Amino acid sequence: MIFNKPITIALSKGRIFKQTLPLLAHAGIEPVDDPETSRKLILDTNHPQVKLVTIRATDVPTYVQWGAADLGVAGKDALMEHGGEGLYEPLDLQIAKCRLMVAGHPDAELQGNRLRVATKYVNSARSYFSSRGQQVEIIKLYGSMELAPLVGLADIIVDLVESGNTLKANGLVPLEHVADISSRLVVNKASWKMKHNTVMQLLEAMREAVNQQNS
Ligand code: PRP
Repeated sequence: MIFNKPITIALSKGRIFKQTLPLLAHAGIEPVDDPETSRKLILDTNHPQVKLVTIRATDVPTYVQWGAADLGVAGKDALMEHGGEGLYEPLDLQIAKCRLMVAGHPDAELQGNRLRVATKYVNSARSYFSSRGQQVEIIKLYGSMELAPLVGLADIIVDLVESGNTLKANGLVPLEHVADISSRLVVNKASWKMKHNTVMQLLEAMREAVNQQNS
């Protein structure tokens, strides 16, 4: 594949990075450095025109929105929180799949306007409850949400559930489904226009890889 414009792709380390690598490889892109061992934040690839930047998952939409990265791989959870301004979301990569759920004690009360909800996903939680006409008190946390109902910080939580093991280990259960989550390819709106051929080549190669992986 020939990239006639320089492009930067934003990714988060860990699961998203690992599961995106085979999709990028299908487009002929391979990182030179291993992000798990390297402390570098800008990684070279086998293409001099293509760089990868490794950042926090929640920051990927912001880098792409502002054009600091042309493309990115972002979880739908991060995109829902960000709002999606300034970027296109042309491809569901069908990786890092999980669910955003309301969870709590098995007998947790879900009705009423005075519920306290602990979550990292403040915007998603607020719009979920307001779409049901329910006003709740949101308590912003940055991790380990499962602890909140155990120590009386909140009545319920809104959090990602994959296997359900973390909930189970803490005596909690999933109560309501908020959204299905997977990682999406996102593209800066200006890059979509200005680097159209390069972006399209990459997009189509990744689409083909996703279809092959899921067929
Ligand atoms: C995520 C999520 C849950 C857990 C769900 O946490 O917030 O705690 O994984 O996975 P499971 O259903 O397979 O147990 P993560 O480890 O990403 O850390 P966090 O607490 O910082 O969100």
